[in-house]
Amino acid sequence: MNLQERNQKVRNFFNEKIDSYDDVHSTFMITKNAITDSLDKGAKRILDLGAGTGLELIYLFECFPEAEVTVIDITENMLAKLKTRSFADHVTTICGDFFEVDFGEEYDAVISTSALHHFKSKEKRFLYQKIYNCLKENGQFLNSDYIALTQEIEDRQLYELEHNFDQHKHIDIPLTVEHELELLSLVGFQDISTESVDKENYSLIKARKKV
Ligand SMILES: C[S@@+](CC[C@H](N)C(=O)[O-])C[C@H]1O[C@@H](n2cnc3c(N)ncnc32)[C@H](O)[C@@H]1O
Repeated sequence: MNLQERNQKVRNFFNEKIDSYDDVHSTFMITKNAITDSLDKGAKRILDLGAGTGLELIYLFECFPEAEVTVIDITENMLAKLKTRSFADHVTTICGDFFEVDFGEEYDAVISTSALHHFKSKEKRFLYQKIYNCLKENGQFLNSDYIALTQEIEDRQLYELEHNFDQHKHIDIPLTVEHELELLSLVGFQDISTESVDKENYSLIKARKKV
């Protein structure tokens, strides 16, 4: 299955999960709110990749009421839920695949929570380059996501994706933190740092575009 087909399978998965999504993910709020606590004070133009129902944006808009957020997400049911939130008027939603949609430019920050662990290393490098390119000088990339605690876990999940994909309704392929940092550095990010957030296998990864 190619990337486009895999992403459509992700879309189907989240479309079907919509009724239980917020209940399940409300237990992950620390990992989502960590993004807002790391945003630069003056951040205004923000791109959220895979915002889903917008759980991370609840706290973000409490702290940054003037923010202008653009959201890209492939799952229409998730975005429909986001559009019912009180801050929806301050959010522009684009329903589409990260690998196909134009990200725009000149963002103060690109943020993402629990959404970028479905891509192979080469795909992620392409995505990180796209993120780097759409940031302003000194812009931030903040990603709070599921990570592989060991290389064995990363390898095992990738094996499942490549050999047993049809047997899984949904499969996560997180990278190790070391692998994440290497990719960010390869596309040009600087001031890269990482910290675990709430759960052992969750990391907040921060990086900055400096030109
Ligand atoms: C686990 S949810 C996270 C939602 C939200 N950020 C949160 O933390 O609650 C992952 C989201 O990423 C979106 N997503 C995954 N792959 C995508 C892709 N290739 N293009 C656009 N959106 C994608 C899914 O549709 C889903 O809404």
